Amino acid sequence: MNHDFVERNLPAMIVLIIVAISFGFLVEIVPLFFSKDTNTPITGLKPYTALQLEGRDIYIREGCNVCHSQMIRPFRAETERYGHYSVAGESVYEHPFLWGSKRTGPDLARVGGRYSNDWHKAHLYNPRDVVPESNMPAFPWLFEQFVDPSVTGKKMEALRSVGVPYTDEDIAGAADALIVNGQPVREIDALVAYLQNLGLLLTYKR
Ligand code: HEC
Repeated sequence: MNHDFVERNLPAMIVLIIVAISFGFLVEIVPLFFSKDTNTPITGLKPYTALQLEGRDIYIREGCNVCHSQMIRPFRAETERYGHYSVAGESVYEHPFLWGSKRTGPDLARVGGRYSNDWHKAHLYNPRDVVPESNMPAFPWLFEQFVDPSVTGKKMEALRSVGVPYTDEDIAGAADALIVNGQPVREIDALVAYLQNLGLLLTYKR
C-alpha cells in the first residue's frame, strides 16, 4: 500500500531518493573527511618541485591518465607486479587526483626509478623503439616544446590555497628552477622528472 503510493507519486519518490542517497553519503563518505588514514600525509611526502609540477601538468594535458591508472589495488596479482598497494596518505597533495580506472597501459603509481631517464625519453619519443608490440602513442613534440616558467609560481599559490604546504621561497624560486643555461627546460625533462618521482615512498622489503 505505502509502496504503491511512492511509486505513483513522483515528488515523494524524488524526496525519498534524496534522503536515501544523503544517508549513504553521511555514513560512507563523511567519516573519511575526518579519518587520519585518509588525510594525513605519509612520512616523507613532499609537495612536487617546480619541475615535477610542470611535468604533472603535461601528463594531464597529454591525457596520459586516460590510459594509465595510478592506483595499485591491494590484491596479490597487483602488488606482485607493481609493488606496495596505494594508500590515501600518498595522495593528500594531489589536486586533482589521477587515480583513474582505465588501464590501457600499466599502472604508473610506482613507476619512479623502474627505468632510466634515457629509457623514458626513448619510450616517449617512440614507444615502439623500446617496446616493439606497444600501442602507446608517440609524443615527439615534448622534445621541442619548453615549459612556461612564468606561471609555475601561480600554480603553487593555487595549490597552497587548498592545503599543499608550499613555502614563500618555493613560490618565489619556481621560475628560476625551470631555467637552465638561460633557457626554459624542455617539456620532456619535466615529464620524466615527474614520472621518476612517482610512488617512491612505499616499497616492500624483499
Ligand atoms: C592510448 C593509450 C596510452 C596513452 C595515451 C599513453 N600510454 Fe603509456 N602505455 C600504454 C601502453 C599500452 C603501454 C604498454 C606498452 C609500452 O610499454 O609501451 C604503456 C606503457 C607506458 C610506460 C611503461 C610502464 C611500465 O611499467 O612498463 C610508461 C612509463 C608510460 N606508458 C608513460 C606514459 C606517459 C607519460 C603518457 C603521456 C605522455 C602515456 N604513457 C600515454 C598506453 C598509453
